Amino acid sequence: MTGQRPTAKGNGIVMKDPITVSITGAAGQIGYSLLFRIASGAIFGPDQPVHLKLIEIEPAMGALAGTVMELDDCAFPLLAGVTPTADLDEGFAGASLALLVGSIPRKEGMERNDLLGINGKIFTGQGEAIARNAAGDIRVVVIGNPCNTNCLIAMNNASGVDRDRFFAMTRLDENRAKSQLAAKAGVHANAVSNLCIWGNHSATQYPDFVNARIAGTPVTEVIEDRAWLEDDFITTVQQRGSAIIKARGASSAASAANAAIDTVRSLLTPTAEGDWFSVAVCSAGQYGIDSGLIASMPIRTDDNGNWSVVEGIEIDDFSRGKIDASVQELREEREAVSDLIPA
Ligand code: NAD
Ligand code: LMR
Repeated sequence: MTGQRPTAKGNGIVMKDPITVSITGAAGQIGYSLLFRIASGAIFGPDQPVHLKLIEIEPAMGALAGTVMELDDCAFPLLAGVTPTADLDEGFAGASLALLVGSIPRKEGMERNDLLGINGKIFTGQGEAIARNAAGDIRVVVIGNPCNTNCLIAMNNASGVDRDRFFAMTRLDENRAKSQLAAKAGVHANAVSNLCIWGNHSATQYPDFVNARIAGTPVTEVIEDRAWLEDDFITTVQQRGSAIIKARGASSAASAANAAIDTVRSLLTPTAEGDWFSVAVCSAGQYGIDSGLIASMPIRTDDNGNWSVVEGIEIDDFSRGKIDASVQELREEREAVSDLIPA
């Protein structure tokens, strides 16, 4: 069944009005992990119905129909409606959340920005359609690679939508970094906090171990092997996407969907006292990062659901060099897509 459907009654939970969530690339690998978790309440909780607008290109509409059948077959109490479509205006109409996944993944031996020429142009029309159709409270999270610069393109083509509504996903990198540090220290990943990924979701990203903490103690005091932190740790996080492509023959999907859910939850939920999370946002010049670039930084969400960049974090010479290298790559990517960014 597609379109509007009645929401669950009689389970003792008072349901809110449905939220519209638009997801591009819904018939793809990430989509297959993402849709079912959103429909089961993983982002918005047990009292918030969702209407899913599933956007695909025409050749994938058949496969998408199969995914919609499976959504129907789950009988999710929170699924208020499903709209599969190849029409961007229909797909983004009334959206409060847009997850821009649809794009080509890289293959073994490629860097993510090798995809710019193929994927970049997808995000001009999507930015325009979001501006025409989305709800006033829209949040846009770009996952399709190279996600920072695709987000830059979408944002610059979404005339009239505030820049603070656009995000690119580096949460998978944060989760990977936490997991690596936890394994080295012999603790659960949950003990790692204050982990910022700086810059680009690429091989230049900088997972900041200098400011990260394990059970409240600086990582550098818990893990005294500085050479491991500066070399193996950073390289492992930077190259994790490639390692997964090599091992699976396909890029990460379930962990990427999980990180997308974590990202939105962190943007909607007050951040724990003293902590921060990673997502790429439009820089206003913080930490010497050029204004207007979509760069990953340490972010907090307040009690009213507003996010801000955490200022005043120590940047030592080692970190400065790493951040500058990633920002330089973002500048070069912006230059490479200048024809897709309206003057
Ligand atoms: P996939 O090939 O399995 O699925 C992509 C889907 O996008 C396909 O169904 C395709 O038909 C659809 N698509 C292509 N062009 C589209 C368009 N213009 N509009 C709507 N849909 C379109 O790929 P996947 O594994 O789901 O990965 C999707 C993207 O996410 C890739 O670019 C991948 O590199 C990226 N990714 C990013 C992260 C991250 O951390 N930011 C992590 C993993 C993957
Ligand atoms: C990842 O980090 O796993 C994704 O960006 C996919 C890729 O190309 O590495």
